[in-house]
This record gives sequence, C-alpha cells and structure tokens, in this order.
Amino acid sequence: MASSFSKRSSCLLVLLLALFLHGSSATSSLASEEMLLIEGRFQLWKAEHNKTYATTAEERHRLDVYSRNIRYIEATNAGVGGLTYELGETAYTDLTGDEFMAMYTSPPSSLSKDSAAAIITTRAGPVDASSSQHVYVNESLAAPRRVNWIKKGAVTPVKNQGQCGSCWAFSAVAAVEGIHKIRIGDLVSLSVQQLVDCDTLDYGCKGGWPQTAFRWIKQNNGITTESAYPYTKIANEACKTNRRPFARITGSSSVMSNSEVSLQNAVAMQPVAVLIDVGDNFQHYKSGIYNGPCGTKINHAVTVVGYGVRKSDGEKYWIVKNSYGPRWGNQGYILMKKGIEDPAGICGIAMYPWIPLM
Ligand SMILES: *[C@@H]1O[C@H](CO)[C@@H](O)[C@H](O)[C@H]1NC(C)=O
Ligand SMILES: *[C@@H]1O[C@H](CO)[C@@H](O)[C@H](O)[C@H]1NC(C)=O
Repeated sequence: MASSFSKRSSCLLVLLLALFLHGSSATSSLASEEMLLIEGRFQLWKAEHNKTYATTAEERHRLDVYSRNIRYIEATNAGVGGLTYELGETAYTDLTGDEFMAMYTSPPSSLSKDSAAAIITTRAGPVDASSSQHVYVNESLAAPRRVNWIKKGAVTPVKNQGQCGSCWAFSAVAAVEGIHKIRIGDLVSLSVQQLVDCDTLDYGCKGGWPQTAFRWIKQNNGITTESAYPYTKIANEACKTNRRPFARITGSSSVMSNSEVSLQNAVAMQPVAVLIDVGDNFQHYKSGIYNGPCGTKINHAVTVVGYGVRKSDGEKYWIVKNSYGPRWGNQGYILMKKGIEDPAGICGIAMYPWIPLM
C-alpha cells in the first residue's frame, strides 16, 4: 500500500504543479468544485459509518486520507490491472494503508517473540509433537462444484473484532459454530471473548492461532455462547471462569498444507479456519473475486465457509467470512480466487487450514 500511495502522490504533485503553472481560474474552480464534492461525500460516509473525530484538525486529516483513498479506489476500478474484483468505500476508508495494516492485521512478530513459522511448525502445525495430530488428506475430485454454508444456515452473522488482534479467535469460533450446527442442528453464536480472556495457549488481543484455540476449547471441555460471554474487544480482562461450556469438540485436525483439493474436500464437510496474508487493496475490497496483490506472509485468520464458480466467466472462488464487521467487503465477506498455480493458494489460504472435530 505504501508504495502505491507514494507513487500516486507524486503523480498528484505533477498534476498540482501543472494546475499552478496554468493558474487559470477555470481550473482552480474545477478543483475546488471537486473538493466540495468529496467533502459532501465524506459527510455522507461519516454519517453512514457513524464516524466522529475529536478535533477539527483530526477531521481535516481524515478528510484528506479519505479523499486520497477515494481517488485510489476510483483509479484502481478504472484501471486495467488484471484485477477480478472491485474496490469501494468500507468502514475503513479514512485510514491510510499503513494504519489499516497496523490496526487490523497481526504482524507475525507481534504474536510472540518467535517467528510465525516457528510457532506454526513447533507448537501447532501439521507436525505437532505434543499430541498425535490428525492431518486431513483427501485428493478426491468428486466434491460438489459449489458449497455454501451460509445458505445452509451454518454461519452466524459477521462479527467485528475492532482494534483487537483476535482474528484467530473469530476464525476458530466460526469453524466451531459451523460444525456444531452440522452435527447438533442448531446455529448458536459462540464466545470469542472467552477465548480472548481465558485461552492461555494464545495471546488475547495480541494474537494467536485457530489451531491452539481448538486445543484450548477441547481442554476446557467446550466453549460458551456469545450471549453468556459477550465480546467487549477489551484486552487483558480477567477470565470469567464460571461460564458453562456449550459447544464441545472432540479434537481438531489440520488439513493437508498446500493442497487446494484437500481444502475443497474439507470445506465440503464443514467451515474451515485458515490463515492468510492480507495484502494491498484488502482494506478497500467491495465485490468480485480478490486475486491479490498479496503473498504468503501470514498476518490474519479467517474462515472459509464455502466455494463456487462465477457463472459469467467460470472463475472459481473461496467464500471467506472475515471479522471486520458487515460494513467491510461484501457484507463482511470476501470471495478469494480458488485454484491458482501456486499450491499455497491465494494469499497463502491453503497453507494452514484447520478444522475442529465433533
Ligand atoms: C452510532 O453511534 C451512536 C452513538 O454513539 C450509537 O448509539 C449507535 O448505535 C451507532 N450506530 C451504528 C450503526 O453504529
Ligand atoms: C473425500 O472427498 C470426497 C469429495 O468431497 C467425499 O465424497 C469423501 O467423503 C471424502 N472422504 C473423506 C474420508 O472425507
């Protein structure tokens, strides 16, 4: 994001310089007209997203960031960059790319003093020495062409993590809500805050991993409901120990790493917790099939709740539930490209999938 911003602002500088040199009143009134339009749009956006700012200086600054983002969004949508998706306004259009990444993703270094890769392979990855972990491998090509757990009523409404690095807990909870609905028959929103406060295998708002959350849920004999232990987004709250477990799991399993086919067969069975690399444009994603830019530097956890094929062009996608609230993305969801050449999948989506067992 930073590099595209700086490229853009240097273009803007050239434009402003040209305007200055010509200096005609016609162009400057055009520019101020455009500014008025963007200010009006900013006021509407603020009302829609319930935004207020403490000082007028902060408001000016946010308007400036917003208008730069709007220009970026419009230029990107108009461009021919090989994108199979569209950008738009979200609840985060007043943040710079760097601010967004700092607030809503977990740089692996902040999760623990070890590197992300070390944690994944030694503590909770496919080779977990502390327990005899299952690995789900299924290379069958007989899965249905489309699976949608939202339509099957196994997905609760999109939640909002706020400024707490608890994506790992949302990812795990959505997977457990799914398997609970599939096995037991009722869809019940489960408690993310219980994991944030009580799961000592993870790091609360500082980060964690869906697979260790599953391990904690099993150790705790289950996880309680959202209504019994609601989300407060507050870090370091004392664990409320007297909440009755509601949904129990018998264990968890990794899904074979770097196999979109195994991932597809797992998703055909139940919603799957995955880790991804949130890249540029994710902040402004609105619709269509996200195909990057992103790499495999894992910084976020989400839940795959289905997959499908776009009718207009045959493009395949994963249906991904995020935890940025319903005012981000496509009502809180993002479609991500499925079946790419890189076995890691788009943004590393096939690298570390995990499922709870019930
Ligand atoms: C907007 O803010 C008001 C006051 O803080 C709050 O009562 C209301 O629930 C908010 N609405 C939305 C949609 O967030
Ligand atoms: C493997 O995948 C196929 C297609 O999704 C499915 O029919 C089959 O039940 C799966 N096998 C196991 C053991 O999960």
